[in-house]
Amino acid sequence: MPPNNPYLVERLQGFGTTIFSEMSALALETGSINLGQGFPDTDGPDEVREIAIEAVRSGYNQYPPGLGVEALRKAISVHQGRFYGLDIDPVTEVLVTAGATEAIAASLLALVEPGQEVVTFEPYYDSYAAAIALAGGVRRVVTLRPPDYRYDIAELEAAIGPRTRLLLLNSPHNPTGKVFDREELAQISKVAIENEILVVTDEVYEHLIFDGREHVPIVTMPGMADRTVTISSGGKSFSLTGWKIGWLHGSAELVSAIRTVKQFLTYVSGGPFQHAIAAALLLRDSYFEDLKSDMEAKRDLFCSGLTDIGFDVFRPAGTYFATVDIRPLDSEDGISFCLGLPERCGVVAVPTSLFYDDPEAGRHLVRFAFCKKPEVLCEAIDRLSVLKTGGVL
Ligand SMILES: Cc1ncc(COP(=O)(O)O)c(C=O)c1O
Repeated sequence: MPPNNPYLVERLQGFGTTIFSEMSALALETGSINLGQGFPDTDGPDEVREIAIEAVRSGYNQYPPGLGVEALRKAISVHQGRFYGLDIDPVTEVLVTAGATEAIAASLLALVEPGQEVVTFEPYYDSYAAAIALAGGVRRVVTLRPPDYRYDIAELEAAIGPRTRLLLLNSPHNPTGKVFDREELAQISKVAIENEILVVTDEVYEHLIFDGREHVPIVTMPGMADRTVTISSGGKSFSLTGWKIGWLHGSAELVSAIRTVKQFLTYVSGGPFQHAIAAALLLRDSYFEDLKSDMEAKRDLFCSGLTDIGFDVFRPAGTYFATVDIRPLDSEDGISFCLGLPERCGVVAVPTSLFYDDPEAGRHLVRFAFCKKPEVLCEAIDRLSVLKTGGVL
């Protein structure tokens, strides 16, 4: 937990610089392979990057429209129709944002009154806790438990109360790699409808899903169209995380409410990149199939390496993260394990306990990002192999 900063408002105390910056500094100091942060080490398609360059050259350099450039809003609508059979109005039901991160923050700021409760699954992506706190909301968590990271429906029902405003969902899920299946989504939808709560769903890994599984946006479930805000971004689907082009869609009323907040956060961003992501969303099917199969091959390579070393590996169904239980390697505490790893092996990983309200639930779990070139993953496995014979850290 970072030290308190007397200048920082109370509701954000504890959200200062985290162990992540410590880990990155360690990675630099020790020349480690950084499998901590989730960004690929290869850039997205040349043709998409060329469109961005062309957009800069041809004068798309002033503020784009507040809702996002028309071509991108249309492409988002076409993409949601093509992959999920959705019919989205690009004029009233889509909003382009500065990455999924802004879409999440703007949604919570727009939809949650101070004191209202937001239910999410732990472990959770770290911006969720901060965005809920920014909105003055109260976080309630339901724990996903290994090995399959299912939740207990009784725990979900118990987390919902009269002050619950919305459920913040993430599928495919970071850090666990879980993909919520139709049965679970039907259960969550039923709970949302019965309790009249909204669902904000973060689907940034929608195209990184393995073993022939399907991504099911919860908005496609019966009764969910008017109570769901669906969020995604170009970062993960096109390996262009630095562009920060995200979006959300929902009913015209929900989108209009969120737009009210978003316009005072960034107003707009990334004009030329918006044109390029519009083209990216319309790429041929083979692009999306190759993205998936390349990442699946990396998952297989990396997870079998981790298994050989002796970790208990939770093979992800989606995303580009693998979590492991470190106890078979005679370690108990993920934080000290990860702090020692750069020095010991020259590899950086992230302790999963940081993504839990109940750190005990994830104390022995560690997350690796495998969105790296195969030779980098092989080198990382090689370096980690010293743990096979190593003792407790
Ligand atoms: C679950 C999840 N949501 C959102 C984001 C952030 O997306 P963006 O870079 O588009 O803001 C990430 C990035 O790692 C993520 O893992």
